[in-house]
Amino acid sequence: MDRVVPGAPVGHHEDMQIRGDDVPESPLSPLPGPSAAWWQTGVLYQIYVRSFADSDGDGVGDLRGVIDRLDHLSWLGVDGIWLSPITPSPNADWGYDVADYCSVLPEYGILADLDELVAAANGRGIQVLIDLVPNHTSDAHPWFVESRSSRQADRRDFYVWVDPKPDGSPPNDWVGCFGGPAWTLDETTGQYYLHNFLPEQPDLNWWSEDVRRAFDDILRFWWDRGVAGFRIDVCNMIVKDAQLRDNPPATEDDPFIWQMFGQRPQYTSNQPEVHDVLRHWRQVANGYDPARVLLGETNVEELEMLATFYGDGADELSLGFNFPFVESPFEARPLRAVVERTEDLLPPGSWPVWTGSNHDVSRLATRWAGGHPDKVRLALLMLLTLRGTPVLYQGDEIGLTDVELAHEEILDPVGLRFWPAYKGRDAERTPMPWTAAPNGGFTDAGSTPWLRLGDPAAANVADQHHQPGSVLHFVRDVVAVRRRSSDLLTGNYRSLDSSETTWVWRRGRKTVVALNFGDDPAEIAVPVSSQVAVGTDPSRDRSPVAGTMTVGPWEGAVLVETG
Ligand code: NOJ
Repeated sequence: MDRVVPGAPVGHHEDMQIRGDDVPESPLSPLPGPSAAWWQTGVLYQIYVRSFADSDGDGVGDLRGVIDRLDHLSWLGVDGIWLSPITPSPNADWGYDVADYCSVLPEYGILADLDELVAAANGRGIQVLIDLVPNHTSDAHPWFVESRSSRQADRRDFYVWVDPKPDGSPPNDWVGCFGGPAWTLDETTGQYYLHNFLPEQPDLNWWSEDVRRAFDDILRFWWDRGVAGFRIDVCNMIVKDAQLRDNPPATEDDPFIWQMFGQRPQYTSNQPEVHDVLRHWRQVANGYDPARVLLGETNVEELEMLATFYGDGADELSLGFNFPFVESPFEARPLRAVVERTEDLLPPGSWPVWTGSNHDVSRLATRWAGGHPDKVRLALLMLLTLRGTPVLYQGDEIGLTDVELAHEEILDPVGLRFWPAYKGRDAERTPMPWTAAPNGGFTDAGSTPWLRLGDPAAANVADQHHQPGSVLHFVRDVVAVRRRSSDLLTGNYRSLDSSETTWVWRRGRKTVVALNFGDDPAEIAVPVSSQVAVGTDPSRDRSPVAGTMTVGPWEGAVLVETG
């Protein structure tokens, strides 16, 4: 199987004593053939480095902290990690304003730490993806410093510089994703520059061949040192309309977010030429053995549009985040509709990706589950058993909820700008609680973490580790069962008939997943002779089921036909 970067051992999690290990071999089908790539069968895990683990007591997570916690990820059964930006940054947007694409933020460590992390992770069968931010740089990036210095600067063309309109106003009506005009007038040269996020994040000009060549070098820089792929920030927006035409006004039929900005992003997002860039990157990625992974942040409203980023199924993104799924209410019908539509629309050979939390959206335990423990388990079971790659966000595995912060604690520029209407993204970025100790073992008890933790006693890794019935053990069990089932790893998805508040689907030849999204028990038709392989209620594991199953409120189970 195409699982590892060169030099990394294939064996993985050999020493696990797991619930899944006790499941009799017979009901689980054999592992998939060699055609599945590691990132298709694997479970990915997002690490927000700043909040993961602080090894040196400065209150900020770092790469050595990640190394120190690899055993946790290995124990959990994770196959790949995605590190949010690790590159130098003034942190106007917490790492998404990159000042140097080929180095490490000193607070996080040095390049040698990254190399050590890759080697240590690979040694545990874990691949390392990092964030690539191609849409914009920091205004402190030497490219921008040079570009803004004069109209004749060599790298003037790396960014989008345009004269004001005759009345001095910006060149067009574009608004940025963080609100306000997408243009800032630079006094030095009397031209506006484009920024679809903060003014401190000038957009690169992807019509420049020099920019494209510079990124080829960046891809190779990281891939040559064993990085397994990139999560690509706002990858659907990097190329803008060459004529810089005005975006049309939003109508009341448009998605809420467009109405909020007052315009459709017709000329700022999803331009046809972005696909040329992605096709080219895929070719570069395929030049490596194993092929490097392109995981796109495809923040699009329509699944039809999402599908286009997979190209012909093999020539653009390997994986594209599904935002309609993330944004769905936690109800059987809407979630099922997104999944069915995704299954219908994605080109043959392409691979979905399912996630419920990240550093930009409220955590699944809060947003979907409202802190209700059964709903948390149900959401996790869903993510881990659909056809596609699950991406867990750090803390999902312990059912971590958002942390409510006061105005004076907010560090996210978007929260500061829109408070109190929108409180920003800090609530889902607070540090990981590893223990019940003060500061949750994230940093020294006497240090000040960069963002305040919630109550570490409420949910933390160490305590749940010692509780066999915890969310943490549940996630590990589901991952273990998944790992041993070719149906769950690669089997087709097919919805089965069920009531309004339940969602039941078949995976592959003999696996059925039944989820109850209702407050009442539900009768679910299941194969005549089957067994619970794993479920949200551990007491039902391995129990036989015949024809119908009564699934409790917010209960879910994976059933395997035994007959
Ligand atoms: C998406 C990133 O996930 C988010 O955190 C960031 O603010 C924007 N892109 C801009 O880079």
